[in-house]
Amino acid sequence: MVKILVAGAAGFIGSNFVRRLLAAGGHEVVVLDSLTYAGNMENLAGLDASNGFSFVHGSICDPAVVKAAVQGCDAIVNFAAETHVDRSIENPAVFIESNVLGTMVLIQAAVGAGLRLLQVSTDEVYGSLGEEGLFDEDWPLDPSSPYAASKASADMLIGASARTYGLDAVITRCGNNYGPRQFPEKLIPLLIANAMAGETLPIYGDGLNVRDWIHVDDHCDALRLVLEKGQSGRVYNVSAVGELTNREVCSRILAALGKPESLMRHVDDRPGHDRRYALDPSRLQNELGWKANVAFDEGLSTTIEWYQANSAWLDNVRSGEYRGYYERMYASRLESGTTVAEED
Ligand code: DAU
Repeated sequence: MVKILVAGAAGFIGSNFVRRLLAAGGHEVVVLDSLTYAGNMENLAGLDASNGFSFVHGSICDPAVVKAAVQGCDAIVNFAAETHVDRSIENPAVFIESNVLGTMVLIQAAVGAGLRLLQVSTDEVYGSLGEEGLFDEDWPLDPSSPYAASKASADMLIGASARTYGLDAVITRCGNNYGPRQFPEKLIPLLIANAMAGETLPIYGDGLNVRDWIHVDDHCDALRLVLEKGQSGRVYNVSAVGELTNREVCSRILAALGKPESLMRHVDDRPGHDRRYALDPSRLQNELGWKANVAFDEGLSTTIEWYQANSAWLDNVRSGEYRGYYERMYASRLESGTTVAEED
């Protein structure tokens, strides 16, 4: 039985990862999560000691908590992070604290206990691509937002710790995930939630920014493979080669829900908005034999079904803190925007 400390698993990708790992069998999981706004115990509902699951409420920034949580574990997987670009523009300090200082605490715990650390990073560390080409793992780090810079810093601390302290670490860099239990500040769940409620769908700028979409299950399978078989010190890009413009994503959601295109509204752009992300996953495919299994339209349709079947989950996460956030982020943008129908 392999025992893994999974930090930040009350969030979207982490909770999906833990569910898949425990369902596959052969693992015990200790989840460490500080339950900030995007951490949600409902995401872990149904998991308990009989599944090999246990939970520690605490922060990766607290060395004593981490040291205690890691006892008896064979590896650490780190999902714990502030992840939303717009929030990082508004309040960068918490990103530095969680994503940089917190990762350093995990590094020291991993070194102290002689454990492998899998750092779940992002394609945003590479910056923005032009119309051609794909990021490979040797692409220079050129982050655009405080969020991306904090993740790049964590990646560099890991590289430095491998050299200096002999840390056994692997890093994954994935594109934009979608699937069940994603907090609706992110594009796809925000658009689904708004469309379901008959509200406006806000599209930043011209809507032609490109993201590389992957279903969370495919990402989680890649993470498990890298954790088990990845070469120490190596970075692995994770991509289903799923490039789409934001406008196209929006149209597909509206079509799937039978809602009119007139709900789509261009609004003020995000400052420093990266134009295009696209990753080359050849290393992961050729060295570890990974491949994506979920086609975008199929994954989008099951994701929409999940949000429709879990409207109580959605209502819950859209109340409280989210209301103030949405108002701050979108009220003036929605007033000044233009609908796509008016423009075309
Ligand atoms: O690429 C991986 C990254 O994907 C992760 O590292 C980040 O944690 C995750 O937040 C995501 O970053 P993005 O900034 O690409 O995701 P977001 O869902 O915020 O935005 C996706 C695209 O949609 C981006 O071009 C901005 C645009 N957008 C976003 C929102 C929330 C809109 O047009 N309207 C919106 O309301």
